[in-house]
Amino acid sequence: MSKKTLVVTYLPSGERSSTKQLVDAFLAAAKGKTAVEHLDLLREQPDVFSTESLGAYVTRNYMGQALAPAQAQAIAKMDRMTAQLKAADSVVVAFPMHNFGLPAAVKAWFDSVLLKGQTWDMNASGFVGLMKGKQALILCTSGGVYEGPMAGWEHAVSLAKVEFTFMGYDVIEAITAPGMNANPAQAPESIAAAVAQIHALGARWYA
Ligand SMILES: Cc1cc2nc3c(=O)[nH]c(=O)nc-3n(C[C@H](O)[C@H](O)[C@H](O)COP(=O)(O)O)c2cc1C
Repeated sequence: MSKKTLVVTYLPSGERSSTKQLVDAFLAAAKGKTAVEHLDLLREQPDVFSTESLGAYVTRNYMGQALAPAQAQAIAKMDRMTAQLKAADSVVVAFPMHNFGLPAAVKAWFDSVLLKGQTWDMNASGFVGLMKGKQALILCTSGGVYEGPMAGWEHAVSLAKVEFTFMGYDVIEAITAPGMNANPAQAPESIAAAVAQIHALGARWYA
């Protein structure tokens, strides 16, 4: 039983978004089975590191030193997003592929929450993920299909999987609807197949 699920979305196509159909399917599948918190990255844009916030991060998280108020302020939004992720047993991240990778806002969110000592750390034997016992779902639609010779061009879902793996998530699943632009006639079928997988995942995750 997952007590709390954080749903992180970046859907700049708004109501016309193909990816939103996957998010809506997830919300329907999860309804009444978990508390859902929504982080809309269009409304609350994640920070990217500035000289000040990176300095604060290194000072506190690597050197173990206290921060002056202005330094703490510089990294406050990253800390907030990290605490929000840590409070969730499950996380869903939903986005369209942009230029073969994660949209910048989604990458900035990952950069915000991948804080040493919070979601991952280092010990004598190397890197350790601190998010054990948690589950992650990636929802992504793309214009093209990344199979065969194009497989190496896919850096959206593959990068999101690496980020969650690094944080130690035990369950990492990805459900995609590819070919939205390459095969427009087959797009509804691609969405329907993803929606069916999402319903099955909902039954599994929240049994
Ligand atoms: C700025 C931009 C960049 C895109 N880059 C890619 C890409 O590199 N590869 C791809 O397969 N599709 C690409 N697409 C197509 C979208 O991934 C695809 O249409 C997706 O289903 C859009 O989802 P949405 O309706 O939720 O925005 C791009 C779309 C936009 C708007």
